[in-house]
Amino acid sequence: MKYTSPNESQTTSIGRQLATMISPGDIITLSGDLGAGKTTFTKGFAEGLGVKKTITSPTFSLMNVYPTDAHPEIDMFVHIDTYRLENEEDLRAIGVEDYLGDPKTIVMIEWPEKIAGILKKFEQVIAVNITNGADDAERVIEVVGIE
Ligand SMILES: Nc1ncnc2c1ncn2[C@@H]1O[C@H](COP(=O)(O)OP(=O)(O)OP(=O)(O)O)[C@@H](O)[C@H]1O
Ligand SMILES: [Mg+2]
Repeated sequence: MKYTSPNESQTTSIGRQLATMISPGDIITLSGDLGAGKTTFTKGFAEGLGVKKTITSPTFSLMNVYPTDAHPEIDMFVHIDTYRLENEEDLRAIGVEDYLGDPKTIVMIEWPEKIAGILKKFEQVIAVNITNGADDAERVIEVVGIE
């Protein structure tokens, strides 16, 4: 699926929409340059899952875990940002493998290429790729791996 988003609020809304299309245990990767809109997209997605807390970028915490309440089979939403991660083991050390593929959890990852070694054993990965569009505010959002 491919969407064109003219502004921040539309990117949030596309994220919210994706939350209605996923399955328990899904892992979603978010690729795109600095400032592409990965966290913005995540905010909408989390809202769609019924996360009530405000999503903040896990740039320093690496991983934020939120309870969800909009989906009968999903209890938790995990937001990861590996931008400042130096070694995959650091993410393993804070328990990422307890969440990845867990059937009651959805995991969304900014900068997934940095944890390719951890992700390679998971087949059920949805990839969201955000690129620049025709003007400063436009983004092209491509979602791969979902029917
Ligand atoms: N169409 C758009 N969609 C999303 N964000 C947009 C759009 N147009 C402008 N913006 C702006 O781009 C920025 C996106 O920031 P955001 O933190 O979501 O990016 P990011 O990809 O998570 O960056 P980082 O790599 O630093 O984590 C915001 O300042 C937002 O206002
Ligand atoms: Mg971000």
